[in-house]
Amino acid sequence: MLRGFSLGRARRFSEYLKNMAPGVFLQELYNQPGVIGAICPSSRYLARQMARQLPIHDDGLIIELGGGTGAITQALLNHGVAPERLKVIEYSSVFVQRLRQRFPDVDVIHGSAADLSQLLPSNVKIGAIVSSLPLCSLPGPITEAILQQWKLLLHDGGVAIQFTYNLRQPKWRRQIQANQTNSKVVWANLPPANITTFSFKTAKLHHITNECP
Ligand SMILES: C[S@@+](CC[C@H](N)C(=O)[O-])C[C@H]1O[C@@H](n2cnc3c(N)ncnc32)[C@H](O)[C@@H]1O
Repeated sequence: MLRGFSLGRARRFSEYLKNMAPGVFLQELYNQPGVIGAICPSSRYLARQMARQLPIHDDGLIIELGGGTGAITQALLNHGVAPERLKVIEYSSVFVQRLRQRFPDVDVIHGSAADLSQLLPSNVKIGAIVSSLPLCSLPGPITEAILQQWKLLLHDGGVAIQFTYNLRQPKWRRQIQANQTNSKVVWANLPPANITTFSFKTAKLHHITNECP
């Protein structure tokens, strides 16, 4: 009994390691640190909390930005998002290949979130943008272009959900022209992360004076 239990746990742990792919993640981090912007993949606690921020009654597309190893993709599917409603945008070709293998029913698009509107069908309804993008470590003009895309695509509905490791005020928060509708810290992640949700519908400029270091 005990042996069976241990074997089951060992199998689950090995499956977890296979999905998390620490070697691939570290290799990508070594190759392009600013683009990855994290020391390890998102924990399942962070991923689950990201998924819980989705609007309840919305049938629009869910766009995941920066799918990486797929921790958040998996949480979105576990949360009940149908694979055909989900589109994942990923910049790294290594991660794109892995995501396509791991989630054959999900549309994984190789490209930059800075060009988001060109990567999606026109006039599509978006329920939420769920982002793991390292907005603090990407070059300033890329972050600006990404935030402009959110404003363009979400101006008449949908929310943007973003996490950051900067628990104070990251610089991009001063640039985002949106209303913050929720904020939550997840301590069970390395490092702990703050999830913030934004609505662009009646967006007024947020004047926040603190800056991230
Ligand atoms: C913090 S990591 C993602 C962590 C992911 N949630 C996981 O658990 O593996 C950030 C991801 O954003 C991707 N990324 C960075 N810049 C991007 C861009 N402009 N467009 C799309 N993806 C981008 C990186 O390649 C990386 O996969």
